[in-house]
Parts: sequence; C-alpha cells; structure tokens
Amino acid sequence: MDNTKSTILSSTCILAPLAGVSDLPFRMINRGLGCSFAFLPMISARALVYQNKNTEKMLSTIPSDRPLGIQLLGNDPDILKRALEITGQYQFDVLDFNAACPVRKVTSRGEGASLLKEPDRLGKLLRVMVDNSDVPVSLKIRAGWDASSVNALNVALNAQDAGVKLLWIHGRTREQGYGGEVNYQVIRKIKDVLDIPVIGSGNALTPKLIKKMLDETGCDSVGIARGALGNPWIFRQTDSFLEKGMLLPDPDLKEIKTVMTRHLNLCCDYYGEKNGAVTFRKYFIWYTRGFKNIKPLRKRAFLAATQDQMTGIIENLSKVDN
Ligand SMILES: Cc1cc2nc3c(=O)[nH]c(=O)nc-3n(C[C@H](O)[C@H](O)[C@H](O)COP(=O)(O)O)c2cc1C
Repeated sequence: MDNTKSTILSSTCILAPLAGVSDLPFRMINRGLGCSFAFLPMISARALVYQNKNTEKMLSTIPSDRPLGIQLLGNDPDILKRALEITGQYQFDVLDFNAACPVRKVTSRGEGASLLKEPDRLGKLLRVMVDNSDVPVSLKIRAGWDASSVNALNVALNAQDAGVKLLWIHGRTREQGYGGEVNYQVIRKIKDVLDIPVIGSGNALTPKLIKKMLDETGCDSVGIARGALGNPWIFRQTDSFLEKGMLLPDPDLKEIKTVMTRHLNLCCDYYGEKNGAVTFRKYFIWYTRGFKNIKPLRKRAFLAATQDQMTGIIENLSKVDN
C-alpha cells in the first residue's frame, strides 16, 4: 500500500479545507479531540506567488499539526508551478488542487469548480502539480457544474490518469452550492471505478450522516466540513458510533467552555491578542448554536476586542442554558 493510501485509510474522518475557518488554532482544537488528518483552507496560487503576507501566514504550521494537507486554487500552469516552489519549502503530507469552489469571484476567474467545464485545462494543471510535487497530489471536485453536466466520473478518471493519488468529491453540483441533496450515487460510481482512495463530502453533519455517506458510497473516508463548526467533538463521537454503534453524550457546558477558552487562547497566540479575539467571534457563534437566551452574550462577543473580555463572556455562559 502506498503512503497516501495508508495515511488516508487510517483516518475515516478528515477535517476538510474550510476557507476562513481551518486555520492552525482550529485544526489544533479538532486534533485535540480526535481529528487526525486535517487540511488547510484553499490558498490562491496567485496570491502566494505575489507574496501576499496573509497567504504565507496561512501556510504556517507546527510539528504536531500532521498529517496535513494543503490545497491550491489556480488556473495558470506557470503561476501554479511558481506557487509549488514556495509550498515545497513547507512540511505537509498531501497537496490538493481545488476544482470544487463554487464562489462566483473564483469561478469567474476560471478557477475552482469552473475547471469542471474545462477538462483539458484541468488535466494540464494536474500534471503540473504531479510533476512538481514531492508529496502525493489529490484533487477536490464536485459532482459537476450543474444538473445537466454531472461529469465527475470522467474528471476523476482523467485525474487518476494524470497521476493524482487521492480524490475528494463533494456530491453536489456547483449550481447547488451548499444546499440540496447530496448525490451519493455519483460518489459510489467513482469509488467503484477508481483505484485510488476516495473521500466523500457533503452533509457530513452528524455521526449518522457520516455513516450514511460511508454506507451508501463505499468511500474510504469522509470530509468533515460544516459538521465541525463549533463541534470538534464530532470526530470522537463519529469514531464511537462507527466502532460501537453508540452515540456518546454531547459535551456538557463545562467542557464546552474549556474548549472555547483553549481555542480563544490559541487564536490570541497565533494572531496576536486583538486579532485573535476578533477572529474568535465567529467561532463563539458556532460553539453557542442552540443555546437558549444567547443573543445578549453573542452581541457582547461581537464587540469583544481583548482576550480578557472574550474570556469573561465565555465564563458568563454558565448563566445561559444550553
Ligand atoms: C465556510 C466554508 C469554507 C469552505 N472552504 C473550502 C475550501 O477552502 N476548499 C474546499 O475545497 N472546500 C471548501 N469548502 C467546502 C467543504 O470542504 C465541503 O466540501 C462542503 O462544505 C460540503 O460538506 P458539508 O455539507 O458536510 O459541509 C468550504 C465550505 C464551507 C462551509
């Protein structure tokens, strides 16, 4: 078994790339609660080449943040090649190429999911990735551009021919965005036909839905995306459900507060105090989803500008019901 296969197959649940979310603090919080394989958010090859400081910061990692995948977005072979010279200086285990992002700003530049409409160009870009990478290359795609062009199987076969060692598929079209039904059949078909491992993505929101993805598609692993927002416990809950058929109890308020505080502290260490507190605001909203009477505290969290202020607000969570 090659290395990609053994690393991937040993992780049933993989933390998916999440733009604006899966930074180092978020990855470490999830790893601390059972996630073993994580991906960085997508990184624009162009931004990397033109030395955008924020983009370089996105690549920073620590030794315990492994195994780790990074993901590039692009559509120009020369720029991609130059971006790979930069990423080659960092330590990671899988190099992914994004042909899945549905955002108009991205697709209008011919990047992300719009490459599903240009299989020849996509093949050329993948060969650049494979020829210039020391680590296995993966590809993330969607079922297709829209309902009338569900071409994921052909795209996946071409990718395998180009030397891609792992395929991610989000079982929705670009047209569907993040809503609507996940097409499990298209993932199943790809898994049946391809020799390389397949990661299924789409509606992996609970242990039961993750099991449904595995059962209906036969995929090797499942990408956890929105399911991990405010819920890093999803990894161990899913492991327990898959191994023993048992749903672990949800974390109690004390544990939620402990993890929130740890996450806030990691954000402040990584971004500096002010930016860390501001960055944590969105995570505060996700951690407190479903809490009753939470509105006033959320309003305060949205104004918090220091670590102490945010810590105080987290402490005050005992005064609301969850
Ligand atoms: C906030 C957010 C950011 C995302 N960023 C990326 C990204 O950078 N790269 C990528 O390939 N997919 C990205 N995705 C897609 C997810 O990785 C995943 O494929 C998708 O959300 C479907 O899974 P889910 O329905 O379980 O959330 C993003 C999704 C969300 C919600």
